[in-house]
Amino acid sequence: MDKFVINGGNKLYGEISVSGAKNAAVSIIPAAVLADEPCVIENLPKIKDVSVILAILESMGAKVTRINGDDSKVEIDPRGITSHKVTCEKLVGDMRASYYLLGALLGKFGKAVVPLPGGCSFCERPIDLHLKAFETLGASVNILPSKIELDSEKLEGKPIYFDVVSVGATMNAMLAAVKVPGKTVIDRAAKEPHVVDLANFLNSMGANIKGAGTDVIKIRGVERLHSCTYSIIPDQIEAGTYMAAVAATGGNVLIKDVIPEHLDSITTKLRDTGTIVEEYDESVRVIRENELKSCNVKTMPHPGFPTDMQPQFVALLATANGRSRVMECVWESRFSYIPQLRKMGADIVDNGNVAHIYGKNRLKGTKVRALDLRAGAAMVIAGLAADGLTEISDIKYIERGYEKIIEKLTSIGADIRRVTYKENVEDDDI
Ligand code: UD1
Repeated sequence: MDKFVINGGNKLYGEISVSGAKNAAVSIIPAAVLADEPCVIENLPKIKDVSVILAILESMGAKVTRINGDDSKVEIDPRGITSHKVTCEKLVGDMRASYYLLGALLGKFGKAVVPLPGGCSFCERPIDLHLKAFETLGASVNILPSKIELDSEKLEGKPIYFDVVSVGATMNAMLAAVKVPGKTVIDRAAKEPHVVDLANFLNSMGANIKGAGTDVIKIRGVERLHSCTYSIIPDQIEAGTYMAAVAATGGNVLIKDVIPEHLDSITTKLRDTGTIVEEYDESVRVIRENELKSCNVKTMPHPGFPTDMQPQFVALLATANGRSRVMECVWESRFSYIPQLRKMGADIVDNGNVAHIYGKNRLKGTKVRALDLRAGAAMVIAGLAADGLTEISDIKYIERGYEKIIEKLTSIGADIRRVTYKENVEDDDI
């Protein structure tokens, strides 16, 4: 087993580059299944979720050629995929986004059999809206204990209305509808940057999707999708995590290879804390010299403040001067990591979907767990800002979503390393 050990207190200085967006990559790779020719995808983040989804495609018969010798640029030839059934339960159960195979296979074959998805389970994560969208297009849905079966005689473009704004359901509806005859209109669509990225990828293959990034997405079904070369957008949440890290430790870091507009809600909140954020064409500079001020944060679908930055901000605000309030409005509950921050001395009271944070200048290092991907990122931020040693176990969650996090943080002055330990000698209270 491995853990991260952080000797906190170093201010961060220098430059850091952001990788391609995880949540775009894990939808665009399954989307390549829909093409009739090979596609090249660039700027893929080298993270566990990408290698898992590529392995799933390979297990289905796709030919994946790693052009750079790693997962950062791949050619996916889907012509060997001849069955609508995904059988590798273990791999599918390793990640949440495997649910995009439902939409992609339904769009390709008119039917799909996919094991139930796994991934981060910080609270219950329903997929009823995805399934309703498939039904609206004409599919029948059969939910079995270990898999979901979709079938159809004939799919047809239809209006789809979501009563809850859902990133996954919006993207799955696009995948399912892109080759379906007629016009599909997705109303109350999610507007996240990765929704737009998926639409841009599909359009590069010859799809006819308009309105991605607005509330209404209009899709005219096309018969075939051709090859393309496509570069994934930078990861908004990875960028935001490093921005919050610099704000928490203090220092001055240029965060490169970003789309600053995607970071607007994060930048706004960081400025509320007294952190300076300078925006350039493809980078942002984060400077924190003075004491952090408290602020209030409410998570919302894009362009609101992203829920995937909520744990990192709670960690940051735990070191701010004064009382902050963080309200989680996307997920029913997403505060299960807070007891881990309390172990580091944070003074936080959470009640339902609101956390009241009574900031204090210093946290103290101790043993904590990464309960999920973003909760793990919050522990890293707290550890970087804390006095003394922080040991973070269960780092497999963090490595699902952050490429080379140790190398990147070390390059800007953090004292963080990966340590292998034997499970039976570790304290069981962590
Ligand atoms: C995606 C992200 C995740 C992020 C979330 C919200 C990926 C792989 N994951 O997850 O990191 O936290 O967006 O930005 O991109 N809901 C339903 N029924 C459904 C689907 C969702 O009620 O069928 C509800 C959820 O309970 C939640 C809300 O809709 O309250 C938003 O969830 P959704 O946007 O679907 O999240 P994911 O796409 O799963």
